[in-house]
Amino acid sequence: MSKHRRKTISVIGAGNVGEHVASLALLKGLGDVRLFDIPRKEGDKVFEPVKGKALDLQQMLSALEIDAKVEGFTVSPDGKSGYETLEGSDIVVITAGFPRRPGMSREDLLDKNIQILKAIVPNIQKYAPNAIVIVVTNPVDTMTYVTYKLLNFPTKRVMGMAGILDSARFRTFISYKLGVSPKDVHAYVIGGHGDEMVPIISRSNVKGIPLENLLSEEEIKEIVERTKFGGGEIVALMGTSAYYAPAMAVVEMIESILLDAKRIHPCSVYVEKNGFYEVEDICVGIPVLLGKDGWEKIIEVPISEEERQQWRKSVESVKRTVEIAKKFL
Ligand code: NAI
Ligand code: 2OP
Repeated sequence: MSKHRRKTISVIGAGNVGEHVASLALLKGLGDVRLFDIPRKEGDKVFEPVKGKALDLQQMLSALEIDAKVEGFTVSPDGKSGYETLEGSDIVVITAGFPRRPGMSREDLLDKNIQILKAIVPNIQKYAPNAIVIVVTNPVDTMTYVTYKLLNFPTKRVMGMAGILDSARFRTFISYKLGVSPKDVHAYVIGGHGDEMVPIISRSNVKGIPLENLLSEEEIKEIVERTKFGGGEIVALMGTSAYYAPAMAVVEMIESILLDAKRIHPCSVYVEKNGFYEVEDICVGIPVLLGKDGWEKIIEVPISEEERQQWRKSVESVKRTVEIAKKFL
């Protein structure tokens, strides 16, 4: 028998996003999944939902005739117990944390979610020192920065998910307007995952036809605004934040890494210094090449002068949150 083993994807935080990352990764046959979450107390009863979710997913796989192992582990909120089975993880996804509620910005989550990261990160360091880490917890650019600084892993093995999600929203709204399949819409979003994100109009096209030839300035503006507030639109409707598209965006990243596919996607990555994007010591959404080593290369995409102004504004906004976060490190 060969020594081939399936890849292991660990997800810390088996809430809305985490459980959907698990099910989509399993459905795509990307590997075994380990879920980690805290217990839930109701009166004097203690539930372990993460173990129930893992069992449910395992039974789903039997029904689907997919071979993979799913396990759930209850961890303590302070991070002091339950993480030994992170060992051997190829990918660790961090989705633990509070989501937005109506009226909250992603930045409102900063303090509480940093405390959660501080409980989790030492365990990744200890038990999964070779893993590639994908951060989802909001405000994601700042949380990716905090994770990177606390972990002390090679830069290319830490990244945040947002750009793929924002791009999916952008492509959806373009496809609605033009009545074409989103598969034929090539468009993406860079910058921070906040209201200042930058949908790149100058490079957007439908099967090679520039967006600006297909839509009026007014129509494009409408789509850009809806994209920027795409997360908030769902929070207002559901009372909590989105999870299907966010989970799928994470799975796109996992797939490109585990299959060494070299897809180019906007991801939030730590940049020590980059002259083209004019950034230094920050995590922000930039197109990168995703392969077996993590994010392997920054892709420099020429953008218009107007977009560059917006980009600078977006970077400044992320910088402000990072500066606040530094006080908690
Ligand atoms: P959720 O509340 O459904 O799930 C969060 C899970 O984290 C819960 O199951 C909770 O028990 C767990 N958790 C809390 N403290 C923990 C700890 N100390 N250790 C382990 N697990 C812990 O929230 P949801 O909707 O899954 O969102 C998770 C995070 O992802 C939020 O911060 C949200 O804002 C963010 N998010 C980011 C997106 C992005 O584009 N980057 C998109 C969607 C959500
Ligand atoms: C989203 O954009 C809230 O960041 C989350 O859906």
